[in-house]
Amino acid sequence: MSVLVSPSILAADFAELGAELRRVDAAGADMIHVDIMDGHFVPNLTIGPAVIKALRPHTAKPFDVHLMISPVDLFIPAFAEAGADIITVHPEAGPHLHRSLQLIKSLGKRAGVALNPATPAEVVREVIDLADLVLVMSVNPGFGGQKFIQSQLQKIRTLRGIIDGSGREIILEVDGGVNADTAPGVIAAGATALVAGSAVFTGAPEDYAENIAVLRQKAVGAK
Ligand code: DX5
Ligand code: ZN
Repeated sequence: MSVLVSPSILAADFAELGAELRRVDAAGADMIHVDIMDGHFVPNLTIGPAVIKALRPHTAKPFDVHLMISPVDLFIPAFAEAGADIITVHPEAGPHLHRSLQLIKSLGKRAGVALNPATPAEVVREVIDLADLVLVMSVNPGFGGQKFIQSQLQKIRTLRGIIDGSGREIILEVDGGVNADTAPGVIAAGATALVAGSAVFTGAPEDYAENIAVLRQKAVGAK
């Protein structure tokens, strides 16, 4: 299976998000990564379900929605309704991770678990039967353009083992500081999806296809 590339629109031009979405779609994105921040769980604010709903007609690619909000459960139905395809939550964002994942699945969506750099991989083992995606944060969540934290490579390897042991088809996605330099290590460690904000939305819109292609090539070379 080739690696999935999920551009993070956090690095897009917010004044023309619809056009940016159409551009990365045409440029070869497999999914669209949407970062939702509440200024409480993380020290930054972004967008809510209304913007996702407005963006939905601009692409048919899956919306990979990363919720960095707490408490999270209250808002999950609104994101499902707005057009999210994968909804990913952090274990620290609510009192009952298992219940949050059950809720996402009950709404007919794919469920993801996001692990902060300090959160152990083992959390995933207990909810593996509900997980469709595991997101390894290779920066502390809240901002784009941060430096990749190398210690997360070991966690990716550990999660590769947990996922393989489950026999389930689960996307292992890495988010934060992913670029042409860090992608090979991430893929070699066992990731199957790359989130990239600044590495995709750099240069002119005509460059996006090349930016995505470079990530994909680096990934293929690393296997
Ligand atoms: C950070 C977000 C990331 C961010 C990645 O909290 O979860 O998705 O947009 O940005 P880059 O690729 O620039 O590190
Ligand atoms: Zn993210």
